[in-house]
Amino acid sequence: MAKINQNFLKLNQDYLFSKILEETNKYKEKNPGKEVISLGIGDVSLPLVPTVIDAMHKAVDEMKDKETFRGYGLVQGYDFLIEKIIDVEYNSRGIDLGKDEVFISAGTKGDLAGIIELFSLDNTVALMDPVYPAYRDTNIMMGRDNITYLKGTEENSFSPELPNKPIDIIYLCSPNNPTGTVLTKEELKKWVDYAKENNSIILYDSVYECFITDNLVPHSIYEIEGAKEVAIEFRSYSKLAGFTGVRCSYTVVPKELRIENNEESLNNLWRRRQSTKFGAASYITQRAAEAIYSEEGQKQIKENIKYYQENAKYIKNELEKVGLTVYGGENSPYIWLKTPNNMKSWDFFDKLLNEAGVVGTPRSWIWQIRRRIF
Ligand SMILES: Cc1ncc(COP(=O)(O)O)c(C=O)c1O
Repeated sequence: MAKINQNFLKLNQDYLFSKILEETNKYKEKNPGKEVISLGIGDVSLPLVPTVIDAMHKAVDEMKDKETFRGYGLVQGYDFLIEKIIDVEYNSRGIDLGKDEVFISAGTKGDLAGIIELFSLDNTVALMDPVYPAYRDTNIMMGRDNITYLKGTEENSFSPELPNKPIDIIYLCSPNNPTGTVLTKEELKKWVDYAKENNSIILYDSVYECFITDNLVPHSIYEIEGAKEVAIEFRSYSKLAGFTGVRCSYTVVPKELRIENNEESLNNLWRRRQSTKFGAASYITQRAAEAIYSEEGQKQIKENIKYYQENAKYIKNELEKVGLTVYGGENSPYIWLKTPNNMKSWDFFDKLLNEAGVVGTPRSWIWQIRRRIF
């Protein structure tokens, strides 16, 4: 008889986002016709920009002729997109990358789940806390539950202390989901130095880098000298260009990454993994992503980003006006607030939903799961 993967039983059954959805649906049933402002799940609300739509139409048309039709693509992605990424996202910031170090995929979520397959199950893992829950859950699903939580608090401005022991794999998320806070160049350098000293690998999630406005905040971890030896970087078109439904992203796996005994490069392992388990993002999708790098494309996506930035600024200002302590909202679309009178986060979630029709994200989930497993 088939047996299930027991690791799944260690997961919190009420995965954060489904619980939020469930509570929201209950509210809608009780309050038909009432508007709900959904801030709980980091999705976009603006449609794709016209340049992207035009590029997709053009790519669809190419599919109808034998001469221009495209079948299976290269596992790594098409050169037309990889070259644009290297030029616009990296060379412009003084970072050199080879074309074989950038891998196009269909969303960072899948790459975050996939990358951890490259590491031994007995590796230790550290996560910022609070952070995007998929980092923790994907490790638990694989049976890797030796997880250290790097606590982000008001006292450390959500920039956690370095671990007091060697950790093999470290997730850093800047701008952070959900706190909206960022790591400065100086803070990031501390992590890169730590990783070099302890032979760790940093999984650097910078999917929200397009929201950075402060010049002291790096957009890429490779702006820190030596980071190519210790860091893998994840970027997505989901937030940059509203591709949450289209699905396109990229992951940078430098050839210089150091691993024990240098038996095999992580770059080769990732290519091998992708060629076996991933079918590449579609040609149409990659043409859509390429389109954002045209002059018009850049102008259009920047207008959309500005819209989200202004919303965040507005929310932050209004919350501060009523006396709440608020973080984020400056280099990020996320706002993280301190509940008044130490109210519990799910209680505040209920209050916000039931009295204002606004859906937020409570913090308490990460503590619940920790109590259950460890
Ligand atoms: C921090 C973080 N990383 C990764 C993702 C996943 O992005 P994608 O849509 O590319 O899968 C999200 C989505 O919300 C996120 O918040």
